[in-house]
Amino acid sequence: DLPARVRIHEVGARDGLQNEKSTVPTEVKAEFVRRLADAGLTTIEATSFVHPKWVPQLADAEQLFPLVSGLEGVHLPVLVPNSRGLDRALALGARRVAVFASATESFAKANLNRTLDESLAVFDPVVRRAKDEGLHVRGYVSMCFGDPWEGAVPLHQVARVCKALVAMGCDELSLGDTIGVATPGHVLELLSLLNEQGVPTNVLGVHFHDTYGQALANTYAALQHGVTTIDASAGGLGGCPYARSATGNLATEDLLWMLRGLGIDTGVDLDRLVATSAWMAEQLGRPSPSRTVRALSHK
Ligand code: HMG
Ligand code: MG
Repeated sequence: DLPARVRIHEVGARDGLQNEKSTVPTEVKAEFVRRLADAGLTTIEATSFVHPKWVPQLADAEQLFPLVSGLEGVHLPVLVPNSRGLDRALALGARRVAVFASATESFAKANLNRTLDESLAVFDPVVRRAKDEGLHVRGYVSMCFGDPWEGAVPLHQVARVCKALVAMGCDELSLGDTIGVATPGHVLELLSLLNEQGVPTNVLGVHFHDTYGQALANTYAALQHGVTTIDASAGGLGGCPYARSATGNLATEDLLWMLRGLGIDTGVDLDRLVATSAWMAEQLGRPSPSRTVRALSHK
């Protein structure tokens, strides 16, 4: 049985823009977020409070967040890599934060400059303090299905990190296929193993990148398993600057097209979202990689 309703966790403004070669003006980012909200998205990851030298594209987080934080009925989660990041997020009144762990040592080192266990030790007090402050906390787990340096990633290694994040107090997890190598059977295997190990489906979200064109097939598998939180990026923007071969995220429009066909409700207006991504593509000076955006904006 497929779920009747799905919550889209929109990551275009964060995962999408963190990888842009050119600097996107803060006001354009704010307009992007406003238009995403206007299209009916209610969870819009706004930016990251990471070190500006590590992700210069999001160095304007302090300027951007106040421009969008007044949007009504919209959750604006932000990424925080450590206690310093949480301080910055709290100072601006953020109510949802996400820590981002890795299932592999190589990516923990590349992305956070820490071993896997060191990074979990950094997150533990961050998650606890965020929960004490009444925030909603998401825990990302990157490289769940394969790692560019280590190759295949054992399922039990992913499960260990997931269980650690739940034990800290994370409200939800997002299983990242950072480099887009997953296929549907692998997705089902991981979801089943997590359930067996005590991580229930209702805390799990999925985060697919579309490098090998598998993101939608993987999403369908996750839906069949009962997952109802799906990460996607408007126009298919995206990638991670610290993972070789991490290309665009699953495009929100491609996801919507499939969900609409399946009769699954999201509350998002596809035409408005296509118009937003077409507008953003103009700002970035290149066409959207989303098939659905292309098909619907050339009607
Ligand atoms: P580090 O160099 O080890 O930092 O970087 P440190 O703890 O040694 O501190 C060094 C200096 O940085 C200090 O300043 C700190 O105050 C400062 P100093 O005392 O020397 O003047 N600092 C900060 N400044 C501002 N904000 C902060 C902050 N933290 C320390 N938050 C660090 C460690 C975690 C900071 C760095 O590695 C970092 O910022 N990494 C972020 C990488 C990132 O954002 N990657 C992309 C997001 S993950 C992703 O895209 C995957 C995902 O989409 C899921 C998927 O697809 O799998 C989520
Ligand atoms: Mg990502």
